[in-house]
Amino acid sequence: MQILRFTRSSLGKKIIVAVTGSIMIGFLLLHAYGNMHAYFGANEINDYSTWLRTFAEHLFGYGGFLWIVRVVVGGSLIVHVITVISLIRQNRAARPVRYRKTSRRRRVIIGLTMLFSGLIILTFVVLHILQFTTGTIEPTPFHESNGLGIVYINLYQAFQVWWIAWIYIFVVAIVAVHIYHGAWSVFQTFGWNNADRNGFFRATAATIAIGLFLSFASVPVTFWTGIMPPPASLMTESNQPSPDATAHVQLPQGHRP
Ligand code: HEM
Repeated sequence: MQILRFTRSSLGKKIIVAVTGSIMIGFLLLHAYGNMHAYFGANEINDYSTWLRTFAEHLFGYGGFLWIVRVVVGGSLIVHVITVISLIRQNRAARPVRYRKTSRRRRVIIGLTMLFSGLIILTFVVLHILQFTTGTIEPTPFHESNGLGIVYINLYQAFQVWWIAWIYIFVVAIVAVHIYHGAWSVFQTFGWNNADRNGFFRATAATIAIGLFLSFASVPVTFWTGIMPPPASLMTESNQPSPDATAHVQLPQGHRP
């Protein structure tokens, strides 16, 4: 009962938003780290993708560990969104509190920024999974082998297309803004902020946000600008990129090499 009362209170909801947000930030830090394997070659990132599915296989079975992560992160996302909606409703219904005019305007702007950036991120996550994990939407051909994504070739082909690369750069910038404000409000929710520590907390929030932006955005940038080489399977015998490597949409729809 006490737990129910807690989750219905404004503070309880803020803590739920903060905890689920922190879980997702943790996921993003690990995801950004995982993406960095691409810089060590196609085998590295492909092996990392396999490792995600075979980790602790003796305990959870094939892909079991990844499914636990999916349930925790997906569950956090759902609870985060539902609780944010409930907080917004609760705040609207509450007796309007008098803020100074500038402070109120600032809060409204931040609230709207969080809401719209959240909606964009939510849409992106759905499309992103459908593109890179399931291959359901194929603006570029999706490659998989025995159920395992051949990650490097998928990244390479996707980010040869300028608008896909730019959408990713744009969205990860939005993710960074969302995380900056989110991380800062986590510190406020837990009451850790005070004049002495605020500088440190703001710097920490900015470091996480900028670090995530740079590491995520570097992937589309380096593939699109040709810094990252085409995968071996797209090279001809003379070691030149084959036509498939640059004419990405040429493979028939639904092609699964
Ligand atoms: C440029 C940035 C990004 C790149 C290059 C990228 C790349 C990828 C790739 C290649 C996969 C499939 C991995 C595999 O099957 O082994 C994946 C999965 C995923 N990504 Fe990203 N990602 C990026 C940004 C993001 C962001 C910003 C989010 C969340 C806001 C995100 C959330 C996810 C999720 C939830 C999955 C599904 C994991 C699973 O269930 O297997 N990604 N990403």
